[in-house]
Amino acid sequence: MFGFLKGRKKSLIGLDIGSNVVKCLRLETGGARPVVTHFAMVPLVPEAIVDGEIMDRELVIQAIRECAELAHIPKEPVASAVSGRAVIVKKIVMDKMSQTDAREAIFWEAEQHVPFDIDDISLAFQVLREDVGANQMEVLLVAAKKDMILSHADLIRDAGFRPAVIDVASFASQNAWEFCSRAAAAGHAGDPEDTPATAAGEFVALLDVGGGVTNVNIIRDGVPYFTRDLPIGTVRFTEEFQKQLGLTYEQAQAATQGRLAGLDEKAITELVRTVGAEIYHGLEPSLSYLRAAGEAEGIDRIVISGGGAKLPGLRDYLAGCYEVKAEIADPLGALDWSPEVFGDSDPADLSPLLSVSVGLALRKAVEA
Ligand SMILES: Nc1ncnc2c1ncn2[C@@H]1O[C@H](COP(=O)(O)OP(=O)(O)OP(=O)(O)O)[C@@H](O)[C@H]1O
Ligand SMILES: [Mg+2]
Repeated sequence: MFGFLKGRKKSLIGLDIGSNVVKCLRLETGGARPVVTHFAMVPLVPEAIVDGEIMDRELVIQAIRECAELAHIPKEPVASAVSGRAVIVKKIVMDKMSQTDAREAIFWEAEQHVPFDIDDISLAFQVLREDVGANQMEVLLVAAKKDMILSHADLIRDAGFRPAVIDVASFASQNAWEFCSRAAAAGHAGDPEDTPATAAGEFVALLDVGGGVTNVNIIRDGVPYFTRDLPIGTVRFTEEFQKQLGLTYEQAQAATQGRLAGLDEKAITELVRTVGAEIYHGLEPSLSYLRAAGEAEGIDRIVISGGGAKLPGLRDYLAGCYEVKAEIADPLGALDWSPEVFGDSDPADLSPLLSVSVGLALRKAVEA
């Protein structure tokens, strides 16, 4: 904005409080490509966060502190995300009006669409289509319970950081994927800001297969058409490997992460298909709706992120179910990093797990 700020670095910390693994990642933007300057992740015990809800606040705060210490991350503003039942995303149709009037009217509209008391929610909205006929417009409504947002912000403060952005986890993954796709499409010559992430009208199913939950976000032209959380993640797969194939916990974890040396690969991929069918069936209602509404024949592409992206055969299984291309998200693909940042870990191996944290750190950065 001001000449004297030109070339100054901007930065933001993305903090992904996953139910299995807490990740923090600091990005510096302002150069040709964003640079990861700090990163760490620490595991969280299963009791700390259950079904997206924080059960043991102290354990979570401790994990965030530990993660920040490991990464030697500076005490700068943090972007983090909420998800789960207390967040509602809905596409609605309302009378056409200016942005300012809509800001007021959205509360009345929300009352009809959100099953919480209107005084108890925080609202955000985005006009998707200015004109859908009959003097109406289409709007994306995002509602979250106020007490959840406040307690999430308090949690970040109690861990020693200033909460600058509170996002929705599946929107953060979308942000990371779109950023990478635009950068790839623009190549070295173009400006990623001006390059669309997808072909016009293409439906993309973004699936973040985490430890406990799979966040589904079906997008078209940058707009989330459907978001849904399916109660299945890597933990379920690990349990099934133990139960059905008689593996030890360590072997089952290795199988979940795609390290199959010495294990029965065929039996494992077969079981991934059986358990993965729950993801397929969980997606079906959204897709039937799209078909019934005449919006689309089906999805055109699947992108898998989260720890579950490494489940052997999951990508091929889902690609086969829909007869479309399925890819593994690589949010580090459009970033650079300082050589010491990932230590002994292989960045390519970690990349799918970092969709949410990268998407968060790419939110409007602040001056460093
Ligand atoms: N390199 C890795 N390090 C740790 N876990 C890994 C790795 N690769 C795969 N995994 C698997 O991924 C899981 C964690 O995935 P992810 O980080 O996406 O979950 P989460 O964000 O903590 O969970 P949720 O999104 O459901 O709250 C682990 O439980 C493990 O099974
Ligand atoms: Mg996650």
